[in-house]
Amino acid sequence: MTTNRQHSPLGQAAHAVLPPVARVGDRLEEVDTPALILDLDAFEDNLRSMQALAESHGVALRPHGKAHKCPEVALRQVALGARGICCQKVSEAMPFIEAGITDILITNEVVGRQKLELLAHLAAIARLTVCVDHPDALKALSAALDARQSAVDVLVEVDIGQKRCGVQTHAQAVALADLIARLPNVHFAGVQAYHGGAQHKRSFEQRKQAAEKGIKSAAGFVDALRRAGYACEVVSGSGTGTAVFDAASGVFTELQPGSYAFMDGDYGTLEWGEIMSLRHAMFLLGTVISTPTRERAVLDVGLKSATAESGLPQVAGRERLRCTALNDEHCIVMADGPEARPTLGERLKLIPGHCDPTFNLHDEVVVIRNGVVAAIWPISARGLSR
Ligand SMILES: Cc1ncc(COP(=O)(O)O)c(C=O)c1O
Repeated sequence: MTTNRQHSPLGQAAHAVLPPVARVGDRLEEVDTPALILDLDAFEDNLRSMQALAESHGVALRPHGKAHKCPEVALRQVALGARGICCQKVSEAMPFIEAGITDILITNEVVGRQKLELLAHLAAIARLTVCVDHPDALKALSAALDARQSAVDVLVEVDIGQKRCGVQTHAQAVALADLIARLPNVHFAGVQAYHGGAQHKRSFEQRKQAAEKGIKSAAGFVDALRRAGYACEVVSGSGTGTAVFDAASGVFTELQPGSYAFMDGDYGTLEWGEIMSLRHAMFLLGTVISTPTRERAVLDVGLKSATAESGLPQVAGRERLRCTALNDEHCIVMADGPEARPTLGERLKLIPGHCDPTFNLHDEVVVIRNGVVAAIWPISARGLSR
């Protein structure tokens, strides 16, 4: 039996072949389900909008690869002018480097022998930057790089309100910069200041206030480092929700948004104001496999095709339909009247609540332009979480 992932000797079934989810040139109606779909026009508009925002403020764009884990996406972001990309994990960077992305910021602390060895190996091939927030981790990083004779740029991660990783005080930031200056194979490049909590505040005004608080905190760290003799060439951070504020701050030199390219369901519910308009570009295609009542339809997509930690999917373009539950392999859709209920075999486009973990559930994304499959892009870094 042959699937797209493995071969196994199963006697009679050996000749069964799992057909591809779609072929280039197929119409959208012919795509098998569940399928992750990318609307190419909306996606390209989103890429251009964020690139234009960054350029209008003279800051660099370094989109986050963890949002999609798909090298074809990253190549298009870089072709439009992005400086490079971000990855959250060392292993995640591998398919991107293989695809030719040569400038990657690991927006995270790297701790553990295997990861450091892999990082040191990759640093000999690509230009890597890494975050640190502890002297012991920094020493281990320097030693691993020394063994491989490779080097990285280092950003001191500072906590500007996210309450995740990052040094807590100016003195800790300066002490780390001092240590970087003394150690081989590591070069101080600046700070990472990411405030995830500010990204998803619903109202434009609340988000602005949260971003401003973070910007002020980041500026304090940058200033303390400058007074100690360390100029921050790079001040990297931001995300889709606060990019408009961070870009204009005069503090950040580099933006790290990821979700902007896809505009998932959660981000779609935010107030955006006039500054930037982003469109839903990523959808989950499902088929109605059962219509047990006059108002209820059941789709063949579930938690194995979309995650629900940021809310249930929305049904695109169908005001009268609402997802009410997502089981392992089923999605319950309720209509507000029998005439609005989809029929057996009908296909619906869902907007997943959160793009990052949803991409991570799929081997490939089916790229659609004008209702026709234009390409199928592998999500090569899916599952690479080490
Ligand atoms: C360090 C870091 N930078 C950037 C981002 C991108 O955020 P978003 O996808 O909301 O644009 C994230 C997301 O969690 C992150 O953890």
